Amino acid sequence: MKHMKRVLLYICLAAIVWACQPGSKKQESKEDQIETRVTELLKQMTLEEKIGMIHGNSKFSTAGVERLGIPEWHLSDGPHGVREEIERDSWRSAGWTNDSSSYFPTGTAVAATWNPGLAKIQGKVLGEEARFRKKDIILGPGINVIRTPLCGRNFEYLSEDPFLISQMCAPYIQGIQSADVAACVKHYIANNQEIDRGTVDVEMSDRTFEEIYLPGFKAAIRKGGAYTLMVAYNKFRGKWCCENPFLLTDVLRKDIGFKGVTLSDWAAVHSTVETANAGLDLEMGTDSAYNRYYFADPLIEAVKEGKVSETTIDEKVKNILRVMFKTKVLGGEIRAEGSFVSPEHQQVAYKVATESIVLLKNENNALPVDPSTVKTIAVIGDNADRKHAAGGNSSGLKAKYEITPLQGLKNRIGGQAKLKTALGYEKNSEIQYGKGLIFKEDKKKDAQLLDEAVKLAKASDVAIIFAGINHDYDTEGDDRPDMELPYNQEKLILEVTKANPRTIVVITAGSPLNLSRIKDHVAAIVWGWYNGMEGGNAMADVLTGKVNPSGKLPFTIPVSLKDCPAHEKINYPGVGMQVKYDEGILVGYRWYDTKGIAPLYPFGYGLSYTTFKYDNLKTDKETYGKEDSIKVSFSLTNTGKMAGAETAELYVSDPDCTVMRPAKELKGFKKVFLAPGGSQTVTVIVPVSSLAYYSENDKDWIVEPGRFELLVNSSSADNRLSGSIVVNQ
Ligand code: BGC
Repeated sequence: MKHMKRVLLYICLAAIVWACQPGSKKQESKEDQIETRVTELLKQMTLEEKIGMIHGNSKFSTAGVERLGIPEWHLSDGPHGVREEIERDSWRSAGWTNDSSSYFPTGTAVAATWNPGLAKIQGKVLGEEARFRKKDIILGPGINVIRTPLCGRNFEYLSEDPFLISQMCAPYIQGIQSADVAACVKHYIANNQEIDRGTVDVEMSDRTFEEIYLPGFKAAIRKGGAYTLMVAYNKFRGKWCCENPFLLTDVLRKDIGFKGVTLSDWAAVHSTVETANAGLDLEMGTDSAYNRYYFADPLIEAVKEGKVSETTIDEKVKNILRVMFKTKVLGGEIRAEGSFVSPEHQQVAYKVATESIVLLKNENNALPVDPSTVKTIAVIGDNADRKHAAGGNSSGLKAKYEITPLQGLKNRIGGQAKLKTALGYEKNSEIQYGKGLIFKEDKKKDAQLLDEAVKLAKASDVAIIFAGINHDYDTEGDDRPDMELPYNQEKLILEVTKANPRTIVVITAGSPLNLSRIKDHVAAIVWGWYNGMEGGNAMADVLTGKVNPSGKLPFTIPVSLKDCPAHEKINYPGVGMQVKYDEGILVGYRWYDTKGIAPLYPFGYGLSYTTFKYDNLKTDKETYGKEDSIKVSFSLTNTGKMAGAETAELYVSDPDCTVMRPAKELKGFKKVFLAPGGSQTVTVIVPVSSLAYYSENDKDWIVEPGRFELLVNSSSADNRLSGSIVVNQ
């Protein structure tokens, strides 16, 4: 008996030692466990079952394999809320009464907060809403570079600058995915215009690709850990993005190491064999004949004929199963349940909106407006009470509610000052997809509206004009015809300003507008974005001074369109269905700075009701090796009387480089909140490796040794501190 016990003890000990060996089952990492289970599942699947998983079986789902416990996969737009439920086989509303979702600030608004922490929180609550609606993938964020002010989808995107895009999209994705929902970063790649997006062929240099258009996607995958990626409609260097082995295999899989799912934009696939072999995993579409999709029956045929190997199909299914395990669709772990339009979600929408609002001009203390000291406020303009959530096409939402600026002012001002309204101008446009904008002009009515607004402004203490555009202009499927303020708003603004010198203009728009003819005349200009369901409350709080504005522009506002890099020659919208990005790496402020063209409002610009002082710039060393990081520190003080936040922007320039480099590039930033008189030492870390340029000769990133200038700025054009460091051989 005693002997038996000893033998048992030895057996147990041996089992423990074995279990602790590297490579043993117990030691298997979570990733390895997932790989094992993916392979096990795959082995049991027929070719038809595999193919079922790699194409749409409704507008927003793919088939599962019931007998193996693999459910259907459910996708939803994105990117700033969960889209209304539609019928499986049509684009008609499904008529649900419980799918009115939160409407969060859109992409450019999120970027304008310059607050990656907030981006993460918005991502998290968006993920929770998607989970609550039983979605597995939310189709966002959209991160295409804002190359031209005219792109109809700029409002969904983030910025003209790849560093700001990267810093904001990675936490947004982490937030979404923390709710057990996959993010889908889109649209890979070079979908920088909506005109001809389904046909245009984009040409750019390797350097432009690496330095400007790829970094956001790289960060989304490497830092954000994005599980899925949507492949764009357009062509890239002669090949459709969806059948482009360079983009899908060489860059995504081999270079970046992407292990997730690539899915086509809706109906962006043009072939079976080429697309399957190029590396696309999943075909989504707009048509309801799902079996006829390129990745349905024709792909089964192609495998049988030996044109596509079954191993290729297996890779695609593996990518999908892997994401299913990671988001707990499979694997038996308890999955987050999510939540919907909760007070917390409303609070997040409000917070992001408040931090996104950009104060562009404020003369003679026109702002804030103290409702206890002014008697009447004239509220003018169509955007005062227009709701925007439903517009923009695929990103449009059935919002639970949307507070307009007028409603916000009513909520906040209550019985204090009197709010009086006049429309001032009429939104006389309608967007008809495929036909563009249709206008119905009524000159008599326009004159009457103008007259009413001027009279009201004259009789009021303050006039606030809610101007700008709407989703007839900022929309998927089309670009704007120009950068001008439509509906004769310029005339309205100038006339109202003559009638009341305390005229404040609030702009609603998601991309740059021409403000050059109104800028010098009005007392104040505020940029308000499409700012989600709480946007009106946030705007009222900024206008009345409860909140101090702290947003900064994520793009440049040029004086005129012809100043823009993409519009200098004929680089937009292309010639013969080809668009050459001849401006190369000089996109956004890189162009204006390097060419010495003064913009109307520079990238990174935004005022506050208080003032900030920058001083005492230091670096931890004077010279650095290529593997080092530069620790830049300086102090920031709130020198005014109101609490506020300032985003300090760190740009680096490489004046002695042997190749052309932009005058400067953003390499770090920090948003700092300070009480009146408060001061803080701010530290920004810049890895020396991030100072590299992409060398086309070496096909590699190169940091040239030598001196680099460090510029601590309040906007790309407003330098506050400067210094330099040296990078050694
Ligand atoms: C858009 C995508 C969207 C998809 C599904 C496409 O037209 O480009 O961004 O996610 O439709 O609605």
